[in-house]
Order: sequence, then C-alpha cells, then structure tokens
Amino acid sequence: MSQHNPDIQPPHQPHPNEAIQPTGPDFVEMPDVVSLPDAHEPLPFWIYLVCGVALFLAGSSFTGFATFGMGLMDQGPGGPAITSNKGAEVAVTDPVLLGKKVYSGNCANCHQSSGEGQPGAYPSLVNSEWVLGSKERLAAIMLHGISGPITVKGASYGTQVMPGWSTVLTDDKIANVLTYLRASWGNTAGPVSADEVSAARDKFGSQTAAFCEADLLKIAPHGPDPTDKK
Ligand code: HEC
Repeated sequence: MSQHNPDIQPPHQPHPNEAIQPTGPDFVEMPDVVSLPDAHEPLPFWIYLVCGVALFLAGSSFTGFATFGMGLMDQGPGGPAITSNKGAEVAVTDPVLLGKKVYSGNCANCHQSSGEGQPGAYPSLVNSEWVLGSKERLAAIMLHGISGPITVKGASYGTQVMPGWSTVLTDDKIANVLTYLRASWGNTAGPVSADEVSAARDKFGSQTAAFCEADLLKIAPHGPDPTDKK
C-alpha cells in the first residue's frame, strides 16, 4: 500500500518534446566547446613563407648569391668536395729529404747535384773519406770550412775555399745535410744528429779561420767513426 503524501511532488519529468528553458529546473550550463582545428587543415601561410625564405638563403649561399651580399651564411668560396693532395703542404720529417733541400740550396752549385764536384776545384762528396769518416770532423768542416791543400780520394785540391756555415745554417740543417751526404750517391754511413752538431759547435767555438787539412786530421784520423750507427 502506498500512501500519497501531497507535500511530496514527483520529480518533474519533462516531456521529450519540451524545450529545456535556461530558467527551467533541468538547465545545466555547459562550458563552451572550443572547436579543434581539423587535422588536415592547411598550415598557416606564414610557415610556408619562413621555410621558403630559409631554404632560399641556405641554397643561395652555395650558389654564390651569398645572401645578397650580406654573407650571413657564406661558407667561403665553394670548391670540389674531394680535393687532391697535390700542392698540399705535407710536413717532411725525413732528415735525408730535409737535408737534400739544404744541399740543393747551399752546396750543389760547387759540389754539383751528383755530389761529384768539379775536378781540380771542388772535391767529390761521393765515397769521400771526409764524408764517411768522423762525424765530429765532418761537423767541424761544415761549421768553419776548409782552406789550403787537401787530399780527397787521392786527388789534391786547394785552389778554392770551402766556406764555413756556422752563422748561416742551424744545427738541425747542418745535421740534416750531413745525414743526406752520408746516405746519398751510394754513400752508406749513418746519420748525424743536431746534438752532435751542437757539441761540435761548442767544441770548436773558438775557431775563427777555416781549418787546414792537418788540423782536421788532428780532430780524427781517417777511418770509420766508432760511434756511427748505420
Ligand atoms: C763555394 C763553393 C762551395 C760550396 C758552396 C760548398 N763547398 Fe764544400 N768544398 C768546397 C771546396 C773548394 C772544398 C775543398 C777545400 C779545399 O780545397 O781546401 C770543399 C770541401 C768540402 C768537404 C770535404 C772534402 C770532400 O769532398 O769530402 C765537404 C764534406 C764539403 N765540402 C761539404 C759541403 C757541403 C755539405 C756544402 C753545403 C752546405 C758545401 N760543401 C758547400 C767548396 C764549396
């Protein structure tokens, strides 16, 4: 049994066709729905414009426009991606090659590029007892020169003077050129180091004139250098 209480009203059931009034009891205010952009909506024009300008400037830096002279993206004059090594400076460290340069620039005009010299005037450096023997004596010849008669391979010289190089060439250059002499044209004596030249520079520092043959033979007699490391 149900008792009807007149104070309790059944909830208002709107008829399906009844319009919901903003003032009506069922009205619930919904937040405004912001419509999302369509996923396939074209990008804004300004994006195309910015990308286009960037691509043009980047491209123009390769083609030589160089961003209209502003050089903003200039990477210097273009060149082929692969360059050959021809002409590139390769650091030469081989003392024989370095010595060859010193020889061509300073010695070849008298001793010739063949090392053979000129009969009667400039003695040969090929198989010379002065070149293949004592390194200290050879450094002494280089630093202060030779004057007066000297016998080289049984032939006598003395009409010309061998200049000294102590003020012209560094220890390194002297060591390199002597190493070159001792390793060229069939010569097979070991290298001369810059330290050995430096020691000779100290030892013969008081020498003011060129050496004569007797002085040189006092430094060391003919024969192979016992410290030679072939
Ligand atoms: C201006 C000419 C001239 C130049 C340049 C010259 N020499 Fe000599 N060199 C001579 C003469 C001349 C003699 C022999 C000296 C003598 O007769 O008293 C000689 C002797 C020598 C000797 C000892 C003798 C021998 O034949 O083994 C050596 C080593 C030598 N020179 C090395 C050199 C080297 C290395 C250079 C370059 C750095 C050089 N000379 C540059 C003229 C020259």
